[in-house]
Amino acid sequence: MTDISSAGTFRLGDRDVNRMGYGAMQLAGPGVFGPPRDHDQALAVLRAAVGSGVDHIDTSDFYGPHVTNRIIREALRPYPANLTIVTKVGARRGEDASWLPAFSPDELERAVHDNLENLGLETLDVVNLRIMGSIHAPSEGTIAKEFTVLAKLRDQGLIRHLGLSNATSAQVKEAQTIAPVVCVQNQYNIVQREDDALVDELADQGIAYVPFFPLGGFSPLQSERLNAIAAGLGATPMQIALAWLLQRSPNILLIPGTSSLDHLEENLAAASLQLSAETVAALEAIGG
Ligand SMILES: NC(=O)c1ccc[n+]([C@@H]2O[C@H](COP(=O)([O-])OP(=O)(O)OC[C@H]3O[C@@H](n4cnc5c(N)ncnc54)[C@H](OP(=O)(O)O)[C@@H]3O)[C@@H](O)[C@H]2O)c1
Repeated sequence: MTDISSAGTFRLGDRDVNRMGYGAMQLAGPGVFGPPRDHDQALAVLRAAVGSGVDHIDTSDFYGPHVTNRIIREALRPYPANLTIVTKVGARRGEDASWLPAFSPDELERAVHDNLENLGLETLDVVNLRIMGSIHAPSEGTIAKEFTVLAKLRDQGLIRHLGLSNATSAQVKEAQTIAPVVCVQNQYNIVQREDDALVDELADQGIAYVPFFPLGGFSPLQSERLNAIAAGLGATPMQIALAWLLQRSPNILLIPGTSSLDHLEENLAAASLQLSAETVAALEAIGG
């Protein structure tokens, strides 16, 4: 079994979680629109992740929709006491699998209740408001009304902690005037580094930064230079991409996604890789 403890821990809400976590989106099936490719394998991947020490799983009820949460519930409930499940609200799926905003107070409240029901929980550990201003990248605009809706649900005891996804630095600051923000989940990886300043800003405040698409997402990273660096270190390119993120900043929590047991094991093993300063410099030149 892979040991992920060497990557250390970071605070997420009221728990220290292992920096190597797992993103469950790939379990929903092709196009993140159910049914899953292999239901039993999806259960096995989740159980193997937790069996290897993963105590931070990222999900949403709009994966499937509902599919990923129900698989998590089937695979892991009763949940280990130390497991932190982070979910997101703010989007819904069209019948054609499109991703649509669901930002009205009613939609946000219903999404929280759907997550509770499908995960089989009485309280959600962390809920991220997934900002949909521009679907693929953060864009400015007030989120006060929507974050206030979630803050009220937190006050009612349905949510323990709040975070943001696809957010700008200004939106983080605006949200913090309403309720504490414990994590920010944005797109970031070795070649997508628009959030460099935000990563550091959040690190200074002790807030977790959780990169989505850490491996490049639907089109995993492809780079001859990354391949050559990985081969020279006896590792795979995906492991090097994850090890770079772990070394980039101590507040980065990883949630690589996979529906494959082999890929899961490969990704978790990146927790013990140490990159030299020369390797980091060579990797940072890839995106430049
Ligand atoms: N907040 C947001 O807007 C947002 C958006 C996207 C994702 N997320 C979250 O972030 C998590 C991570 O993102 P992601 O899963 O989309 O992208 P990712 O982790 O960057 O990459 C996943 C892709 O890489 C493949 N893969 C995984 N490990 C591999 C390996 N070792 N070798 C080769 N290919 C590998 C996966 O396919 P296989 O299944 O075949 O391994 C899948 O196609 C998601 O699970 C989700 O929880 C959040």
